[in-house]
Amino acid sequence: MIKVLAIETSCDETSVSVVSNSDDIYKIHSNIVASQIKDHSRWGGVVPELAARKHLELIPFVLEQALEESKISIDEIDVIASTVTPGLVGCLRIGSITARSLCSLHSKPFMGIHHLEGHLSSILFSKNFPKPPFLTLLVSGGHTELIKVGERREMQRLGRSYDDAAGEAFDKVGRLLGLSYPGGPAIAKIAKKGNASKFKLPRCKISDKEGGFLKYDFSFSGLKTAVLRLVEKINLNGDEMPIPDIAASFERVVAEVLVERTVKCAIDHGLDNIVVVGGVAANNTLRKMMIGEASKKSIKVYLAPLNLCTDNAAMIGAAALFRLKFAPHESSLKLGISGRFPIDQANTLYEKNPPF
Ligand code: KG4
Ligand code: ZN
Repeated sequence: MIKVLAIETSCDETSVSVVSNSDDIYKIHSNIVASQIKDHSRWGGVVPELAARKHLELIPFVLEQALEESKISIDEIDVIASTVTPGLVGCLRIGSITARSLCSLHSKPFMGIHHLEGHLSSILFSKNFPKPPFLTLLVSGGHTELIKVGERREMQRLGRSYDDAAGEAFDKVGRLLGLSYPGGPAIAKIAKKGNASKFKLPRCKISDKEGGFLKYDFSFSGLKTAVLRLVEKINLNGDEMPIPDIAASFERVVAEVLVERTVKCAIDHGLDNIVVVGGVAANNTLRKMMIGEASKKSIKVYLAPLNLCTDNAAMIGAAALFRLKFAPHESSLKLGISGRFPIDQANTLYEKNPPF
């Protein structure tokens, strides 16, 4: 059994987890997530400096609790991993310093993990997960990407959002509607009481220079503006704001666009398995619609476990465990952090001369 201690501090969750793998069974021994939602909600979004300060405050206690709950001592840990990119640099620094210091003190190998590879590894904790190659729809607060994943974690980005990420759109529209932060869960909750056919909102596309539209790419900022105009118009007319109907109509159009382009991308690339991960993968409308539409094309859908959709360290540990199957098995202690880094270069995080 290989055991990994993993740390995630790329945004506003301070998380430490102990996970293990034996015979391709991935197990979570502890996964402590200290959410900072309350600290950021009064600002309507994550304040980077505040987030970094909170990580600094919380990390010793979250680390202690994760080890205690796992009943595994640090001496028994085989590898220590932390998210090194992408994310808020001040936040990434805290997890990275903690992990590398522990590695130095306890003579353990260090693994720097790409946050998006972490999200896609959350699927490893599902009862069954697909054999590569498969198509991953990664939908979070910072990213909306379609990634083809190969046998040895070769990753190729086939689609992306050109402006706001899907989660960001949920958060911004939530704020527009006066809902609590983060907007995703708040919109999903109130949308249950609404009529999703009430308002026709745009399904924004990106124009292709060669003509037509880019088939697998996304744009959500126009949709957010359309909601803003709708809210302004209703206010101007002095009508009561039909928040549940707007929320339901918005949620439906986001899910439709994500599902339609993901399924098309899978068909065009001959991939018959779709994996959906990231914070927005917790959305029930998206989950149901993806399964329904993909099954019409005989495509199987694998959804991240609900409790592992939003940021957590267990998924970072799973990414490390998967990577351990192939050489090289560790990152240089000189590996730093980076706010942005393409997922298709994640394998360079394990090179002797690290990319950053
Ligand atoms: O993956 P995550 O925790 O953080 C990033 O890496 O960005 O995702 C957070 C995002 C937020 O934008 C939040 O509004 C969205 O996921 N989210 C949801 C739901 N739960 C969280 N969006 C739609 N429906 C949900 N149920
Ligand atoms: Zn994330």
